Amino acid sequence: MRIFLIVYVLVIVSAVSILGFRGSLTEKEPVEVFNDMDRQAKYKPQAENSFFNNRQNDRLPPALTVSRGSALDTSDVFDDDFIALSSDQVLLLEGKNLDGSFSEQFPYEVNYEFMQYGQKNYNIFCASCHGVAGDGNGVTKPYGILAASYHDDRLRNEPDGYIYDVIANGKGLMYGLKDRLTNEQSWSIVLYLRALQRAQNADQSDLSLKEKSKLGL
Ligand code: HEC
Repeated sequence: MRIFLIVYVLVIVSAVSILGFRGSLTEKEPVEVFNDMDRQAKYKPQAENSFFNNRQNDRLPPALTVSRGSALDTSDVFDDDFIALSSDQVLLLEGKNLDGSFSEQFPYEVNYEFMQYGQKNYNIFCASCHGVAGDGNGVTKPYGILAASYHDDRLRNEPDGYIYDVIANGKGLMYGLKDRLTNEQSWSIVLYLRALQRAQNADQSDLSLKEKSKLGL
């Protein structure tokens, strides 16, 4: 009986000492059999170190690195005189004005060639979900996820910069595509999307006289 009591007390004491402290915080480093990468030697951004000559943790990209998706010249940004992006750069990169609102401007020359480039990119990157006519009739439709149709008044009236921003950063269920499109590709898609909208929303004034008379209008 005595032995049973001793074992009983020992079990209680060890259970309380192991389980009783769960949930309380400690500053001590935990015992790690396999130490994962929580505590590792590392250089934090924008701090100093003694390894590099200029003691700067942040390193410039090696010479001739090709930056993806950005029209910015890195040597400009890291130049001592660099202050802020110009309004042209903000338009090109973010589709915005300097005050942060979406821009109505289009940063490229509008011509047939750029339109064709946009069509090509649209058919690769957007048509699978939004349909070749931009009516939202794509692969996600059978699953009840309607990729937006571009043919509603709200999207017709949104500024070009807004459409650019949706392409780059996504919206709601749609993921952003800026990691796989260059700025130029994205803007070409904005142009083609406008053409798709126009194609579904034309009226008589879009017809030439000849076309009108052919239709007896
Ligand atoms: C994987 C499918 C998919 C792809 C690819 C895709 N989208 Fe979308 N897109 C969606 C879905 C889904 C929505 C609706 C998002 C929501 O409202 O939650 C949407 C919404 C939009 C909207 C409307 C945003 C708003 O304000 O309501 C625009 C504009 C748009 N997409 C443009 C594009 C363009 C241009 C491309 C190609 C560069 C593209 N999308 C590629 C699925 C996709």
